[in-house]
Amino acid sequence: MSRIAIIGRGRLGTALAAALRAAGRPVEGPLGRDEPPSDGVAAVLLCVPDAEIARAAALIPARPLVGHCSGATPVAPHCDFGLHPLMTVTEEGADFRGAGGAIAGSSDGALAFARGLAGDLGLNVVGAGGAGGAADHAAAAIAAGTLERRAAAAGRLRGERESARLPLVRATVENWARLGPERALTGPVARGDEGTVARQRDAVEQRAPELLPLFDAMVEATRVYA
Ligand SMILES: NC(=O)c1ccc[n+]([C@@H]2O[C@H](COP(=O)([O-])OP(=O)(O)OC[C@H]3O[C@@H](n4cnc5c(N)ncnc54)[C@H](OP(=O)(O)O)[C@@H]3O)[C@@H](O)[C@H]2O)c1
Repeated sequence: MSRIAIIGRGRLGTALAAALRAAGRPVEGPLGRDEPPSDGVAAVLLCVPDAEIARAAALIPARPLVGHCSGATPVAPHCDFGLHPLMTVTEEGADFRGAGGAIAGSSDGALAFARGLAGDLGLNVVGAGGAGGAADHAAAAIAAGTLERRAAAAGRLRGERESARLPLVRATVENWARLGPERALTGPVARGDEGTVARQRDAVEQRAPELLPLFDAMVEATRVYA
């Protein structure tokens, strides 16, 4: 396996360096701002904020393959490949095995390299294109980001920590994975209990009117499924 340097000592850079090393890939880093990769690396993977990708890519001295991990940034013109794990990575790291991953490459060789890295990580490649795309990123954000935001909104509504609903949220995600979205669907909208939905809406309006647009959008989206 060819040697790779990882630039960016943040959440993803640290987690990817550990996971790739554990898979037997020779890894340099994660490297900080003033630590250029050595000449011998076959590729450099940028794990920096999206807005820093162009600047960080321009600073790489020799020109091995350069990749980034942003789901919302095209590969060209600053990089050769993209590797976007569909996973939320915190300071505690993440287990990438079995997670989805989108890859992209500006050439067959670059795409093959990204595929190799995804294989090392145990990612299930769900999107492989030439450009890298905001649609993948938006899908991931809708799946994970809105879940976090909804839990926070529920906490605001009840005036308590969102962790109070953690078992409920966990069970919902597990049921969705096991049974599929249609069979996992429960609640008043699924049952056609429109009176209950109306009472819930009144309660939201009284306690946290700023959450009404979110509540209405969720009810509408659930009706489509139901
Ligand atoms: N975390 C996730 O869940 C996740 C999942 C999939 C994809 N991604 C992608 O991964 C990339 C990094 O995200 P992250 O969550 O790891 O961000 P992060 O935790 O904020 O870490 C970013 C790191 O990049 C460093 N950095 C900034 N500019 C740099 C530069 N010019 N040269 C070298 N290092 C630089 C920062 O250092 P300083 O602290 O010194 O600024 C920081 O250590 C993004 O493109 C993101 O879209 C993240």
